[in-house]
Amino acid sequence: MTDTDSGPDPRRATCVARVGEFEPLALGPLSIWPPVVLAPMAGVTSYPFRSLCREFGAGLAVSEMITARGFREGNAMTLLLARGGPDEHPRSVQVYGSDPADVAPMVASLVADGVEHVDMNFGCPVPKVTRQGGGSAIPVRPRLLARLVRAAVGAAGGVPVTIKVRKGIDADLTTYHDAGRVAEDEGAAAIGLHARTAAELYSGRADRDAVSQLVCAVSIPVLGNGDIWEWSDGLDMMRETGCAGIIVGRGCLGRPWLFRELADAFEGRVPAAPPTMGEIVPILLRHARLLSEFFGSESATRQIRKWCAWYTKGFAGARALRAGMMRVSSYAELQGLLAQLDPAEPFPHAALRASRAKRGRTQRVRLPEGYLDDREDDSAPGSPRSSGDLEAYERALSGG
Ligand SMILES: Cc1cc2nc3c(=O)[nH]c(=O)nc-3n(C[C@H](O)[C@H](O)[C@H](O)COP(=O)(O)O)c2cc1C
Repeated sequence: MTDTDSGPDPRRATCVARVGEFEPLALGPLSIWPPVVLAPMAGVTSYPFRSLCREFGAGLAVSEMITARGFREGNAMTLLLARGGPDEHPRSVQVYGSDPADVAPMVASLVADGVEHVDMNFGCPVPKVTRQGGGSAIPVRPRLLARLVRAAVGAAGGVPVTIKVRKGIDADLTTYHDAGRVAEDEGAAAIGLHARTAAELYSGRADRDAVSQLVCAVSIPVLGNGDIWEWSDGLDMMRETGCAGIIVGRGCLGRPWLFRELADAFEGRVPAAPPTMGEIVPILLRHARLLSEFFGSESATRQIRKWCAWYTKGFAGARALRAGMMRVSSYAELQGLLAQLDPAEPFPHAALRASRAKRGRTQRVRLPEGYLDDREDDSAPGSPRSSGDLEAYERALSGG
């Protein structure tokens, strides 16, 4: 398997938007233009990257997932990740919790702190989580899902709450229709569909037919998610499915300018060609600065290593520097390394659709013993018993 998850569509030319073709995305009182959302991504969408993506034109940028337990216990990193910047409007936070009793106070407290949009993650496919009945196993029990959404909507007091789900567990057990009905009934402002099952993880091509079906089935806005690698994918997703907005995940890793391209296309302007290495270097350095301001230089230095690999993916001139980038230990060293790159090297075409994280593989999804016998059960899944197991569970929570 290559690390390019899905080949481009047979290249029909995609036209940029016609005047009035698309509307702003309405999330409760919020009007989001362009209707393009930076996906919540653990380890990625902390304030620094959100800030960059918004500068490039993302309409809304969702935080990485904040867990109810970390929040309740006042975990310093959880609280830092939930923070926004003064320039950040609307401030958007994704939450994860499997017990309504935890979710309600977390949402109330985030809203009291100025959060303007709450997204709920019901798509985590990690075995450690689904085996306990959490993550993408929650929508298998629609009444439990309903209790969780109700708790969040009730605590949010008018601040829009959205949910983000996968298509289901696997091809034999899809849950997105139930999730759409629950979202609508319980007052969610929209539903985002990562159009893959938990079994598919990040492999294969996202199923646009499923997005279309959900659009037909519900009256709240549907956000289409999966495989927006180039601006044309975003417009194609909107046109083919009738969805109200798109969520961009891996396509923007090391490519925040994808949001400028999308913003241009939604405004009816033909986007410029992707940047050369000489144009990327200042973006990467600015990202490093933002990380350092937010996390402190030690953590920022560790984090920037993966970003270096993502920003320079596919550039021939970066190959020889890759080992140095993976060991970089200061901003000055980073500057020195990047200065060795050829500023004229054009963006490599093959890197446009190459997945920079979570490459294609599939899995058999684990559910708790007997979980499917009583899908009407609405009780919150049990937590791991020992605190060590609980910590491992929390650490495993990722993706959606
Ligand atoms: C590194 C990484 C971390 C992710 N973390 C989360 C998360 O915390 N919450 C969530 O709902 N989805 C998470 N996802 C899933 C994305 O939000 C998105 O649904 C998925 O990547 C599909 O979109 P794409 O094909 O554009 O990448 C994560 C994805 C990646 C690649």
